[in-house]
Amino acid sequence: MNTIEARVEELLARMTLPEKIGQMWQIHGAAPENKEFIRRGQVGSCLNVIGRDAEAFQRVARAESRLGIPLIFGRDVIHGFKTILPIPLGQAASFNPEVARDGARMAAHEAAAASIHWTFAPMVDIAHDPRWGRVAEGCGEDPYLAGCMGAAMVEGFQGSPVTTTHNGPKAQRAKAQKNLAKPGSIAACAKHYVGYGAAEGGRDYNTTLIPERTLRNTYLPPFKACVDAGACTLMSAFNDLNDVPATGNAFALRQVLKKEWKFDGFVVSDWGSVTEMIAHGYCADEKEAAFKSARAGVDMEMVSPSYSTHLEKLVADGTVPLDWIDDAVRRILRIKFRLGLFDRPVVPEIPPSVILSHEHLRVAYRAALESCVLLKNDGCLPVAAGHKTIAVIGPLANAPADQLGCWVMDGDQEAVCTPLLALRLVLGSDCLLDSPGLRNARDTGRVQFDAAEAAARVSDVILLFLGEDAGLSGEAHCRAFLELPGAQTELVDRVTKAAAGKPVIAVVMAGRPLVVQPWINQVSALLWAWHPGSMGGAAITDLLLGSEAPSGRLPISFPRTVGQVPTYYNKKNTGRPPIEGQWGAPLGTPLDPKDFTSKYMDADFTPEFTFGFGLGYTTFAYSAVTLSRTSLKPKGTLTAKVTITNTGTRPGAAVPQLYIRDLTATATRPLKELKGFQKFTLAPGESRTVTFDVGSEELAFWNGDMKFAAEPGRFHLWIAADSTCASHPPAEFALL
Ligand code: BGC
Repeated sequence: MNTIEARVEELLARMTLPEKIGQMWQIHGAAPENKEFIRRGQVGSCLNVIGRDAEAFQRVARAESRLGIPLIFGRDVIHGFKTILPIPLGQAASFNPEVARDGARMAAHEAAAASIHWTFAPMVDIAHDPRWGRVAEGCGEDPYLAGCMGAAMVEGFQGSPVTTTHNGPKAQRAKAQKNLAKPGSIAACAKHYVGYGAAEGGRDYNTTLIPERTLRNTYLPPFKACVDAGACTLMSAFNDLNDVPATGNAFALRQVLKKEWKFDGFVVSDWGSVTEMIAHGYCADEKEAAFKSARAGVDMEMVSPSYSTHLEKLVADGTVPLDWIDDAVRRILRIKFRLGLFDRPVVPEIPPSVILSHEHLRVAYRAALESCVLLKNDGCLPVAAGHKTIAVIGPLANAPADQLGCWVMDGDQEAVCTPLLALRLVLGSDCLLDSPGLRNARDTGRVQFDAAEAAARVSDVILLFLGEDAGLSGEAHCRAFLELPGAQTELVDRVTKAAAGKPVIAVVMAGRPLVVQPWINQVSALLWAWHPGSMGGAAITDLLLGSEAPSGRLPISFPRTVGQVPTYYNKKNTGRPPIEGQWGAPLGTPLDPKDFTSKYMDADFTPEFTFGFGLGYTTFAYSAVTLSRTSLKPKGTLTAKVTITNTGTRPGAAVPQLYIRDLTATATRPLKELKGFQKFTLAPGESRTVTFDVGSEELAFWNGDMKFAAEPGRFHLWIAADSTCASHPPAEFALL
């Protein structure tokens, strides 16, 4: 038995039942009366207690409770602490796990300086519905990309050696938790396990119905990637998953997570999700909720008190076996030992001077730079030097709080660099005409429109900063409409008309994809900046002015209209696939069976912008793919190769993406699935040959017999610039 396991067993043997149950409760807040619970050993963790309050509570736990077991302090450090990174969906758009890893590392250091040991991130819920407000907090629609990004965040938070590669996270769990006890490492929590992102209608907390095969092929893989990267904890979700709330779901928690994946960390419930099983209609009362979540394998209850009130009696009357309790407590103690909490000083080892340091702002800047996705450019970008007057219009040009995005508990608004501020710094104030047009993103008043139009009329270039305020995304902040809120669409119309053909460059800050159909044809360029965080303004300015080039790619598809949702790229073919360009049917004509395809009468079936798409300031040519072999033995590997050339006149980042389709299988398979990606810069005229290895890891799936296997048969393979894979027909190979 290694030292940590021996220490866990030794401590467990000395604990009374109430002390064990105490470890399983996470309380909220720094109210002084909480000290008494801690002194009596009734608490294992505190939520939202930081800084001096945390130190005071920790002293009570260590010095005044009978066994001196340290508390673990948790907080939502989702995309930064004081220095704020782009929202996670934006980070995923970087298609660069290094951005996510460095960002999480930076956030962990700042959080650790405030006595935080544990963050409730990353969120790796796959989401196909941009109406869902929490789409902002996750890594998008693709299981592979979300797994790479989530694993990189785990590594960053936990200070682990890098285990992820461009071909995906590799299981090296032993190494993954090596540096947990070092200063500046905090425990990660992959959430919300599982299926939460499939909420019906994009309405938060709503029911999810996900067949087991889809759960295993689509929703579980990013969690597996986080577990393989060494995530210390997972959070059970709020949703009803296939008629059993996720927090009471023994299949997901005990069977898959703990048994199949051999996860040895602990599971925390979501806030009150144990007792919410009463509202779900799955438990009659708190006591039954305690029983059912303990049975399912929830080790720690967040906030609600059902464990602390009922578990002791449930053990005494034999309903809850002591084994369940011991298993949960072992897991919690194991993580506390791995984090070094028994040996660390109460006062943080990381100094507060790291917060908002120059180095941290650089990390946030780079993340913002790589997250922005250029969606349209008629040639007006980058903005040429020498314009006499530039209009800066729109409610997001100078909105520090909104620029930070949702789930920012500690972010410093004073330290936000907005686009207006950055433009003033770079260009000086004299050439800028600042006229917001609307007071905020949801404003419907038109009183400032005349001024905005006047600014557009006299300027050479118009920069239009549009989007959503931070409050339109995040938990419980879902939308039924996906247009720009307030009177922004009208603002675009008025400003573009006043501009009379001069370039109007739209920059959108938003927590999700929006429907841009009503106005996209009116603007000359569109840069999607998500909510880009503290340094968003500096990054956007450098991109607009061309000292940097956009390199982000979409981690989620953009619908043309909300009626198209869900628009994810990795759909199945159906028995009647639609034909490109096909929609509608002429009025009054007889029904023609060749028209009976899976399409819409009133909109194209394709998305506005597809997964993986993003422009830069140059162009790339992809050669046809060559394969090292066209037939593969069961355990064999082939190498796919492509040469990419920068055919433009500026440097730019190429993001080759590997997609695979299994043509026939015992269960129907998606049209394409992302299985690898890379990102690198090429100078004008420069070429690079890239390779991807393909073997059973890339080809296996949960098949018709519910086995994880690669099935013999034919496959298509593309290495392309986005998920349409339009540049070449697929290469084909067979698995024997
Ligand atoms: C959210 C979680 C979060 C928790 C703690 C819940 O409402 O769903 O994502 O980590 O609160 O703040």
